[in-house]
Amino acid sequence: MKKLAVIGSPIGHSLSPSIHKIFAEMVGMDISYEAIEVTPENFKKDVDRLFFNLGYEGLNVTLPLKELANSYSKTNSRNCSLSASTNTLWLEGKEVAGDTTDGRGLISDLKSKSLKIEGASLVIVGAGGSARSIIPSLVECSPKKLLIINRTLEKAQNIASLFTSSSVEITAGRLGSDLSDLCDGIINTTSAGVLNEHIDYPKNLFHPTSWAYDLSYSSQQTFFSDQAKKANCSQIHGGFGMLFRQAAFSFEIWTGRRPDVEKAIDIFKQKFSR
Ligand code: ATR
Repeated sequence: MKKLAVIGSPIGHSLSPSIHKIFAEMVGMDISYEAIEVTPENFKKDVDRLFFNLGYEGLNVTLPLKELANSYSKTNSRNCSLSASTNTLWLEGKEVAGDTTDGRGLISDLKSKSLKIEGASLVIVGAGGSARSIIPSLVECSPKKLLIINRTLEKAQNIASLFTSSSVEITAGRLGSDLSDLCDGIINTTSAGVLNEHIDYPKNLFHPTSWAYDLSYSSQQTFFSDQAKKANCSQIHGGFGMLFRQAAFSFEIWTGRRPDVEKAIDIFKQKFSR
């Protein structure tokens, strides 16, 4: 049996154990997958123990440990290094390797919903860890423009400066200022939406020809989706699909098997009536 787990703090409400158990059943594999509380202070000690004493073969890493996992793993993918974020760890011989599947999960979900990325003008709201974890994958899809807007302008500028050699035009802006051009798609990465706090979005951010995607997978309406609805955005989605798709990429890294995500979402919804 393959021993897998997700680590983070707090971790009690993680949906990952249920998702991975559905994947395993679908592909006929025997796995265990637990949610284990690990705090930043104990990260190295606990993760060393899980891999080298307790026989775990793979770990998902969630908040607030993704940056720590990035420096902990001995080998990282290029997007992992660019995003300074690692959400998947596994043993490769005697060393722990790492990758981030968040960006790929998002892209796969956007594509499944036929949301235009290539050649599109996109706005990312927020410049924290979540924004940084998805931007390298978005850049790979060749949007025409990527504007990162954030309450703290400097953080958006810092992320934009990582991609100066890219052919995509990446700029930074302050959250409240109006946009000079209308965009084709908006991705919310701020935690504020989850808490339903008010955010000072640019007045011309949401409009009927833009799609809106919230990384939050909360089943409740967020302030972001509320604004998108009021402006009649062409499509409005939460991050539930991304959650499953990033999980499926991790599962594939550990097992070599890629589960059917649409089917897994159906099974999950039937089981947990979401
Ligand atoms: P995460 O890993 O979820 O991205 P984070 O790194 O703490 O968490 O980043 C949180 C993001 O949400 C930041 O972009 C933050 O803006 P600041 O950089 O200005 O702090 C944004 N955010 C949180 N609360 C916000 C609010 N009330 N209004 C606007 N932006 C907010």
